Amino acid sequence: MDLWQCPVVVTGAASGLGAETARHLAEAGARVTVIDIDATRIGRIGEEIEALAIACDLSDPDATEAAFGEAREAHGAARILVNCVGLAHPQRILDDDGPMPLDEFRRLVEVNLIAGFNMMRLAAADMVKLPPHSNGERGLIIFTTSISAYEGLSGEAAYAASKGGVVSMILPAARELGTYGVRVVGIAPGLFGTATLFAMERNLDSRLVHAIPFPHRFGDPSEFAMLVTHVIQNVMINGTVLRLDGGYHR
Ligand SMILES: NC(=O)c1ccc[n+]([C@@H]2O[C@H](COP(=O)([O-])OP(=O)(O)OC[C@H]3O[C@@H](n4cnc5c(N)ncnc54)[C@H](O)[C@@H]3O)[C@@H](O)[C@H]2O)c1
Repeated sequence: MDLWQCPVVVTGAASGLGAETARHLAEAGARVTVIDIDATRIGRIGEEIEALAIACDLSDPDATEAAFGEAREAHGAARILVNCVGLAHPQRILDDDGPMPLDEFRRLVEVNLIAGFNMMRLAAADMVKLPPHSNGERGLIIFTTSISAYEGLSGEAAYAASKGGVVSMILPAARELGTYGVRVVGIAPGLFGTATLFAMERNLDSRLVHAIPFPHRFGDPSEFAMLVTHVIQNVMINGTVLRLDGGYHR
């Protein structure tokens, strides 16, 4: 898909992978809306890249619907949704205080999985009404999942389950929305040097990067943004989850 003047929504865009993706897409000429719960930082990103910035808790369905409406009004219905919103909070099933509070599990599933499904259904409802491009494509929805969906560590049961739910959603969603020319793709990052990584990996040290076959370093958010741009341009990528991890397996 051509990004020039293309309406795009990037969620979780106040920092890390989402912020860098928004920068790349704006640079390519897209009409970008950035959404995040962090009002101050999303406002700054909006100013930096001249995008529409909306502060919104994306786990709140009404607020999300309103935010998508605001984006549509400003830029037209989005052809591309890049979901980078994510919450990471390692917690053991059992610790010295007893079992993990069920609400902790619920919160991660709400933000990482249910909010993602909600955004997909709202975005898809708009995309199917758009005229198709000459190749029949109407839209694209990209989810950011995680290698934890496949290889979650101890203390990551809730995070891994929420990201695993996203992985399981990609193929059936692509099958269903493909009828309308809408693609659905997941990206599963390995270790990228962002706030999420520092929340999940308590013992960050040089041994961790040496466990990455190559390159022996954390991923740079621009490398994630480059893959997003490639997925946008390559219509054959659909219904799959692409690992972006330097060959790292836990
Ligand atoms: N960094 C990594 O190594 C890594 C690895 C695997 C997966 N991921 C995934 O990549 C995505 C991006 O994370 P990141 O690494 O850029 O971290 P990040 O913390 O910089 O970005 C996540 C963003 O989501 C926002 N957010 C959280 N809850 C929200 C809510 N309820 N409503 C709206 N916004 C909300 C945060 O404010 C933040 O700006 C996440 O889904 C994360 O799980 C990251």
